[in-house]
Amino acid sequence: MNPKTTEWSKLDFSYRYVPYRFHAYWKDGAWNSGKLVTENKLLIDEGAVCLHYGQEIFEGMKAQRSEDGRIWLFRPEENARRFQDSARRMLMPEIPEELFIRGIKETILANKEYVPPYGTGASLYIRPFMLGVGENLGVRPAPEFIFIVFVTPVGPYFKEGFKPISLKVETYYDRAAAHGVGAAKTGGNYAASLLPLKQAREEGFNDVVYLDSVEHKYFEESGVANIFFVLKNGTIATPKSDAILNSITRRSLVRIARDDFGFTVEERQISVAEIKDFVEAGACGTAAVVTPIGSLGYKGEIHKFYADGKEPGPITRKLYEHLTALQIGDVEDTRGWLKEVV
Ligand SMILES: Cc1ncc(COP(=O)(O)O)c(C=O)c1O
Repeated sequence: MNPKTTEWSKLDFSYRYVPYRFHAYWKDGAWNSGKLVTENKLLIDEGAVCLHYGQEIFEGMKAQRSEDGRIWLFRPEENARRFQDSARRMLMPEIPEELFIRGIKETILANKEYVPPYGTGASLYIRPFMLGVGENLGVRPAPEFIFIVFVTPVGPYFKEGFKPISLKVETYYDRAAAHGVGAAKTGGNYAASLLPLKQAREEGFNDVVYLDSVEHKYFEESGVANIFFVLKNGTIATPKSDAILNSITRRSLVRIARDDFGFTVEERQISVAEIKDFVEAGACGTAAVVTPIGSLGYKGEIHKFYADGKEPGPITRKLYEHLTALQIGDVEDTRGWLKEVV
């Protein structure tokens, strides 16, 4: 892509080649200091553990410009921490926060002209990931690991933008087992979601909401986002589960809703039986930002929320507007969540 001729506001959520990415290597118990490279293809062993047994973890973040053109990350140290949590669960070496953040910043700065301008709604998506590589055959942790950061300019994940989507409450397939790897950001969770997602799309839904895998009774999360509901009494409720990804967006929204806007926010098990009490629903995550959920299909019945599922509800809108303004420096960052990329 040519950044000089790109129509930033028309970008979708897909991969585009930009010149630089960051590679660091772990061998004999230590990470090297890493460096920028231009090659976007990898040459790895055919027996690499990541290829056969899924020893792989990743993160997803965004860089955005404020009105004065400066570039900002949103709570990157939380991504560093979660990457370490994922690494421990998948028996991979932890990346020091310093290396994680430096890899990200160097990659962004080297590709600076690909960070979309302020006010276009586009952002630079950042994909840090780690692969278990090296010669291998049996099921065992990889002997070597590679840490990579690539970036690519993107538009909204759901192409409709800030418009209500309809989700299928999945009653057959599970995303993650109760004591499995649902809380780790690892490829297998996403591979497992492809078939239910395809089926849901064929049935006319945009995506899937998973239930707990033990009782199929409690909401968990969507394929790429946590979820929240606004109840009839004005309370905001969001699922609590050890099997979902610990969304940084969701945790930020909970604090904004509770401390800045004065909402009662409940983080608890939410039963599907409560669906009749929802007046609004939303999905939240780095890619999804805040996406209104207009309706949920459960066991063949469609449950519609605010404005018959056609418009975003007022509370969902308030959260969306505040979060997006905060992330581009349009409202004051009272918590030090924004970190400048310099
Ligand atoms: C399964 C899943 N849940 C939730 C999220 C949201 O997490 P975060 O807000 O940290 O981006 C993501 C990633 O965006 C995800 O892949």
